[in-house]
Amino acid sequence: MSARIEHVVTSGTFSLDGGTWDVDNNVWLVGDDCEVLVIDPSHNAEAVLGVIGDRVVTALVCTHGHDDHINAVAEVADKVGAPILIHSADRALWTAVYPDREPDVWLTDGATLTVAGTTLEVISTPGHTYGAISLYAPELGAVFTGDTLFQGGPGATGRSYSHFPTIIESIRERLLTLPPETTVHTGHGPTTTIGAEVPQLDDWIRRGA
Ligand SMILES: [Fe+2]
Repeated sequence: MSARIEHVVTSGTFSLDGGTWDVDNNVWLVGDDCEVLVIDPSHNAEAVLGVIGDRVVTALVCTHGHDDHINAVAEVADKVGAPILIHSADRALWTAVYPDREPDVWLTDGATLTVAGTTLEVISTPGHTYGAISLYAPELGAVFTGDTLFQGGPGATGRSYSHFPTIIESIRERLLTLPPETTVHTGHGPTTTIGAEVPQLDDWIRRGA
């Protein structure tokens, strides 16, 4: 059985630098009827657990350490007994939410994860945060970009732990170089494709952070 992609939207808040905003987050699941990998379980552990069902969870991957992407991961991990993975450059953001808990695995560029017979490659895409990653699933023709690349532009870089030139370099060198037909599943809002975003790069650079 081949792997498939599932999706649930959860709602909550994002807080950083003294501000708090209402947000809807995309939680992505890659797997089959037996096992599943979950990306950014946020806000509502019950909703995520409902989509997981009775399947084995192989990994809980955080695309970055912003609280709206990691605030349900510990509860889900405890319920299903799965490891939590996040890039070490987001340690400060992780610790702000979970001061008494370490993730199980610190991710690095080029690491590969397998679930349901398909491979996901960790692509380091810093800029939105220092430790932001994307997950590329070549056999599925999909990349999960967290808050690095949305439909219509890069993720926000106006707050702490962000850097606009770095996110542009990540997008240009690591994401827009993927096959144009690659589906881009984002951390918030609609899905897009690499080919749809490529022509906009110069506009984003002109527009700035
Ligand atoms: Fe974010």
